[in-house]
Amino acid sequence: GMRHFLDLHAVAPEDLRAMIDAAHAAKAARAGLPRGATDQGAPLAGRILGMIFEKPSTRTRVSFDVGIRQLGGQGLMLSSAEMQLGRGESIADTARVLSRFLDIVMIRTGPHEKLLELARHAAIPVINGLTDASHPCQLMADVMTIEERLGPIKGRTVAWVGDGNNMCASFIEAAAQFGFALRIACPEPLSPPRDVLAWAAERGADVHVTRDPREAVSGVDVIATDTWISMGDTDRSREKRHAMLRPFQVNAALVELAAPHAIFLHCLPAHPGEEASEEVMYGPRSVIFDEAENRLHAQKAVMRWCLGAL
Ligand code: CP
Ligand code: NVA
Repeated sequence: GMRHFLDLHAVAPEDLRAMIDAAHAAKAARAGLPRGATDQGAPLAGRILGMIFEKPSTRTRVSFDVGIRQLGGQGLMLSSAEMQLGRGESIADTARVLSRFLDIVMIRTGPHEKLLELARHAAIPVINGLTDASHPCQLMADVMTIEERLGPIKGRTVAWVGDGNNMCASFIEAAAQFGFALRIACPEPLSPPRDVLAWAAERGADVHVTRDPREAVSGVDVIATDTWISMGDTDRSREKRHAMLRPFQVNAALVELAAPHAIFLHCLPAHPGEEASEEVMYGPRSVIFDEAENRLHAQKAVMRWCLGAL
């Protein structure tokens, strides 16, 4: 079947593992090359990637665009405001038309259903560049970053502290697919979706939810968090969310409880002094800019897998 990259639960664990291994190798192989230099063998020569953005982005936008160039292909930036999609052309027809021009398409949108609708009607692979429900590309970069610092992720323990949002959902799926333990600390109203937790439990994944951030981070290898206000959240809920999440700030006192070698992850953009203290965000355990860079390397492997060139 078509190799879409819609969510980590929808891709075989051995394929995810192969993508991460390829990403590590390709990153090492191009060390020292200029950013615009093509990877050995130009694995996606002649291929065109379309990138649809219905929400803002810095990392996703630049990493996919630079990534397709490094693979020998070309990218096309498509803001939905400048497409007929923005004036009501259907996702289905957009998918059918783009499939006549492009080889692969990435979309960042709000409703997860829009992503699935695009994939249903596309004759080319579709990549999830973030929806309100998940952010699987970020998790590929996160797994890669953890392995660079700590070696194989299998058997490690990660704490997710804060909002049980799209990133948290993808962390749960990653825990099941890559075989690491996940401790989630979040306020009850911001718990991750039950269906995602149920899926992980069915798979025998070691995923637990607590209300106590100190319990969650105790002895862990990795602490990860994210903004308190996601793009899909309404501004009206801002004060309520801040009040609920303040006790979940990742600060020096909390990080102290993790393993001595523990690293700090954040997908960015950051709000120092909110979800993490300035000291932690930019401190010695923080790997947030390696994590950002690894979006490039991880997504190149994802695109190669989608197009059968891994
Ligand atoms: N982490 C992430 O997806 O960043 P952007 O929103 O800048 O793409
Ligand atoms: N949870 C955040 C992630 C941003 C990359 C959001 O959806 O806005």
